[in-house]
Amino acid sequence: MIPEASTEAARVDAIFVALCIASGIVVMLLLALIMGFSLVYRRGSKAKRKPLRALVAREVEISWTVATLFAFLFAFWWATSAQINGLKAPANAMEIHVVAKQWMWKFQHPNGTREINELHLPQGSAIRLIMISQDVIHSFYVPAFRLKQDVLPGRYAELWFVATEPGIYRVHCAEFCGTDHASMTGRIIVMNRSDYSQWLAQRAPQNDLAAQGELLFGRLGCAGCHGAGSVVRAPDLTGVAGRNVPLAHGGFRRADGAYLRDAIVLPNRDVVAGYAAEMPSYQDEASEEEINALVAYLQSLGVEAAQP
Ligand code: CUA
Repeated sequence: MIPEASTEAARVDAIFVALCIASGIVVMLLLALIMGFSLVYRRGSKAKRKPLRALVAREVEISWTVATLFAFLFAFWWATSAQINGLKAPANAMEIHVVAKQWMWKFQHPNGTREINELHLPQGSAIRLIMISQDVIHSFYVPAFRLKQDVLPGRYAELWFVATEPGIYRVHCAEFCGTDHASMTGRIIVMNRSDYSQWLAQRAPQNDLAAQGELLFGRLGCAGCHGAGSVVRAPDLTGVAGRNVPLAHGGFRRADGAYLRDAIVLPNRDVVAGYAAEMPSYQDEASEEEINALVAYLQSLGVEAAQP
């Protein structure tokens, strides 16, 4: 039996067990009815073979069908609400960036600490994974947490959970992604909070994620156009994160992580109203990890920095 090591695990197991029991009951009932009817109505038996009474043929039939419908609707609501709950992370969740590539998992903590194929996490805190692939579709799968999410190139996928038990848990890739798919594994090490902060403090790099982004902002030349007092007319990025941005082709888009990533990789798709589509794409200039750092830097600018 795989341990239940996240808040999600107990919920998923409850749904799974309940569905198994319900299916088991239906299977047993059907088997019993098939055997019973085979015996009673076997050839030559003296069973009644006249039409059913109207009450049984109509009312019982209708109520049985309606009851089954509601049973299925309940199962749908129960499982779906559990899934939807897994999508929207609480605002104070700790953000871990995950970059999948053939064939490894790269993790980065908010303070800039990087790990490959290993992820250390504190017990009892809400963790929000922001995941993207650098090449093909992968799938992040942690059996002990009962979590699985496809990780796609070009867009962020998210998961959130609370790890409940200290321990070491396997990570698998659950989407065939090439030759070494089977060895694209890793482990999540859940520690109690004080061990985790100690672990993190020992490895803290000089710069956190946002500071790494700020350095890149200079190195890639972003500041040349977006910096204060630049000659080229480009939007000032202070406080842009979390705001609703008016677009040149009409409408608005909230400047969340996905928008900021698009603005770097596909700058001419959603141009800000009042500006020309002049910016080149930085898709080949920056890796997904560097884009994560740039986005973290943009999110750290200005008043709405707290909102992802
Ligand atoms: Cu990555 Cu399979």
